[in-house]
Amino acid sequence: MNFSKRLLNWYKVEHRDLPWRHTKNPYIIWLSEIILQQTQVKQGLPYFQKFVSRFPTVHDLADASEDEVLKLWQGLGYYSRARNLHFTAQYVSKNLNGDFPDNFKELKTLKGIGDYTAAAIASFAFEEPVAVVDGNVQRVLSRYLGIYTPINSTEGVKEFKTKAQKLLDSSNPSIYNQAIMEFGALHCKPKSPKCMFCVFQHDCTAFQQGIQDELPVKLKKTKVKKRYFNYLVLSDSEGNTIVKKRRGAGIWQGLYEFPLIESENPQEIPTSEEINEATGMPLARIEKIKIYNEEPVIHLLSHRKILSTFIEIEINGQLSDLKFSNKFEICKIKNLRQLAVPVLIQNFIESEFPIA
Ligand code: ADE
Repeated sequence: MNFSKRLLNWYKVEHRDLPWRHTKNPYIIWLSEIILQQTQVKQGLPYFQKFVSRFPTVHDLADASEDEVLKLWQGLGYYSRARNLHFTAQYVSKNLNGDFPDNFKELKTLKGIGDYTAAAIASFAFEEPVAVVDGNVQRVLSRYLGIYTPINSTEGVKEFKTKAQKLLDSSNPSIYNQAIMEFGALHCKPKSPKCMFCVFQHDCTAFQQGIQDELPVKLKKTKVKKRYFNYLVLSDSEGNTIVKKRRGAGIWQGLYEFPLIESENPQEIPTSEEINEATGMPLARIEKIKIYNEEPVIHLLSHRKILSTFIEIEINGQLSDLKFSNKFEICKIKNLRQLAVPVLIQNFIESEFPIA
């Protein structure tokens, strides 16, 4: 029996019943694939359900505000995915009459769609015989074929694409692609692959040579850099605070946050002067400065470790009497939950300002 036949037999019995596997609608497939990038199925599933029910068509997503899309995305991370999602929905809705391109090459011209996502949509929705290559596929192939080329090297990326395309079952691209990813996710797992019950025992190079644990090879990335964020949570006699929308190209672009003092090293409680410098708040209006969390909140990103401290700053009088730089917006503390904010700020809001 060949590779594909064995794989599809395994898939028939073992696959998970996932909602995006019941459709040929390219919009729904695209949505699922963007949500599932760098995200586990278990974590992505509720977001997929929220997005499909709020935006049943690409036009509904295109017509929403970016703030609403970011709010719905909140908690999934990698927010550029949400911004690209919104941008591409608008492009497809306005310029392509709501119809996604029906082939790999044209799909790739859309923002946020790379090789993997284009192959997924082209094969799942349109049965184009193009192989998907994600981390699961790379792991299966590196073991089955005994490939030691690092999966994240330029050479490796190319080699795995070529090998994946060679193995692809062109008469069943959609099911084959789902199956090989599923096999990587459930059976040929990074740790403790289920080799004892594997349909490929007889021809898997890694199993034959006992080298499953050495594969795939991955090059080490540079080490994680620490950053210290000190958020200034102002409050006045009317229950107002100030927030700022993040601009620029960072991962939290478009999300709201409290005024921020960033430091190279763990910071002590900021002085009135530092608060004045960061916000423009007159020294005479600062009543009380207090730390909310003695232990910093730790937020781990792929290449950064963010240690956050929230500082409570009581202001006498009302914030609305003051003239702030227009990058700040005055907001009622009780309305903070309606803003799209990074998860670490959302957690803070939920724990410090529970709904009455
Ligand atoms: N991860 C990314 N795409 C997926 C899919 N279509 N099914 C299951 N897991 C996935």
